[in-house]
Amino acid sequence: MNRIHQELDTLARFSSSEFPSVTRVLYTQEDLEARDYFISLCEEIGLKVRVDAIGNTYARWEGIAPELAAVGTGSHIDAIPLSGQYDGTVGVFGGLEAIRYLKSIDYKPKRSIELVLFTAEEPTRFAIGCLGSRMMSGQLTPEQALKLKDKEGGFFNDIREAAGFKGDLNEVKLSEDYYHAFVELHIEQGPRLEKENLDIGIVDKIAAPSTLIVKLIGEGGHAGAVLMPIRKDAGVAGAEIMMAVERIAKDSESEDTVATTGIFDILPRAVNSIPKEAYLEIDLRDTNIETRDKALADLKHEIAEICEKRHIKYSIELLNCDPPATCDENLVHTAEKAAKGLGYSTKVMTSHAYHDSLFMAQLFPTTMIFIPSKDGVSHRPDEYSSPEEIDKGIKTLALTLKEVASS
Ligand code: HGY
Ligand code: MN
Ligand code: MN
Repeated sequence: MNRIHQELDTLARFSSSEFPSVTRVLYTQEDLEARDYFISLCEEIGLKVRVDAIGNTYARWEGIAPELAAVGTGSHIDAIPLSGQYDGTVGVFGGLEAIRYLKSIDYKPKRSIELVLFTAEEPTRFAIGCLGSRMMSGQLTPEQALKLKDKEGGFFNDIREAAGFKGDLNEVKLSEDYYHAFVELHIEQGPRLEKENLDIGIVDKIAAPSTLIVKLIGEGGHAGAVLMPIRKDAGVAGAEIMMAVERIAKDSESEDTVATTGIFDILPRAVNSIPKEAYLEIDLRDTNIETRDKALADLKHEIAEICEKRHIKYSIELLNCDPPATCDENLVHTAEKAAKGLGYSTKVMTSHAYHDSLFMAQLFPTTMIFIPSKDGVSHRPDEYSSPEEIDKGIKTLALTLKEVASS
């Protein structure tokens, strides 16, 4: 098994769920141990490591001209519950392997090359995705971050400090000239590359995500004694909203409108008690901001109608509503040329998943390099990319970094 597969296999064991599934949530013991593992490998090859106030980890390969803006690469290693071992990690450990490869051919970068492990790309703990890159880009301010609470009601600041990340939150934001360019290697998490039998995808657009938190309060009561006509059942209202989420996405004129109610909790969770409360987290995205925003408006309208009809009190919090990212044309071309130069088949494509590059693109010229996902599967234990596919991604990344860091 080649080194990168060995390392991804080791990394996958830092998890709170049984292998081959991976669960690695922000600031948990397994997250911290995985970070330490990554840092030890970076220091082994002489990279200079710094960790910021929320755990974004920067491993820098100093260039001949360190005063020039560096070239960044990287991704995330946190993993949603019961997911796979390649989402994000291929970009972090593959980035490390790309640097090792460039060192092995005795390349000396003019610009420093910096590998980034972004904190909390996944929304699992604080419901908001890309927490680290959001703060790096200024999209999430320290004041907003201080308000974040997890499901147990723990505040972000207390939890990050307890995990050992202290320091001034104001120092997380990067200046606009911090990177000359940013390139992220990532699995496609969809079926297109495999279906078209292509080696490499180069991303020119990243879809626009939004997250809604909907809280419903009805009356609850005894499942036997309260007759149907007078019930105020928050659970059924939530179920009707969940159906509306699916219908609005399906009816959208854009085929890229996707919406999911990924979390749906009801209380008090007793078989003979009418649900008094419901809690929904809804993920709604599209590559086209107009159709995304129309779907959001339609959904808010339907939630109001459903709750009015069922006499349910409700609140809607739009946790994030981000613009799509357009990647840098020159960088797309550079990555495409690198892949073709290696004899790989390529496709310029949209990313339907969001990534830290969505926020890096707000500050720096950015693109992404995709490798195929077996059966298009991701966010599941059977997520898989072969050593050969990962190797092609790493080689393409390495030559892209070499080209950009030499400019
Ligand atoms: O949900 C996403 O698109 C990413 O995998 N966090
Ligand atoms: Mn993911
Ligand atoms: Mn990811």
